[in-house]
Amino acid sequence: MAILNIVKEGDPVLRKECRPVGEITPRIVRLLDDMRETLIDADGAGLAAPQVGVMRRIAIVEHEGEYIELINPEIVSREGEQEEIEGCLSVPGVWGITHRPMKVTVKATDRNGKEFTVSGEGLLARAFCHEIDHLSGKLFTDDVVKILTDEEVKELIG
Ligand code: NI
Repeated sequence: MAILNIVKEGDPVLRKECRPVGEITPRIVRLLDDMRETLIDADGAGLAAPQVGVMRRIAIVEHEGEYIELINPEIVSREGEQEEIEGCLSVPGVWGITHRPMKVTVKATDRNGKEFTVSGEGLLARAFCHEIDHLSGKLFTDDVVKILTDEEVKELIG
């Protein structure tokens, strides 16, 4: 496994539409392993393939110590709404309030080629939406409700 370089806002790879994954090759499996190691190293909540310069529809989301790998993910249902704090490893030092569904259900494929669905509420729902947005070249700052000042961030997350 390897820790990959995380590209930052301003890099054009973050603004492109990613291609779906067809066959799950050893290269894709290795990418998943490397993305997991990179996410752990960066101490983030999620990571999408374009953030490591790979234009494929792959993302990984951390949830209670588990890493949910999503290949070709699609949001199949949305419920409710929330406005909460969000950040991004590609936009370091910036935190904002985003408007997201409170609960989403995502359909995706796992590394063994098996289709599955997973639901998430609150933070997990935000993470799914955020990472899947990356696959369409979208960043959370694009339609953020409010960018927080350093003081507001301190109040919210210490
Ligand atoms: Ni991000």
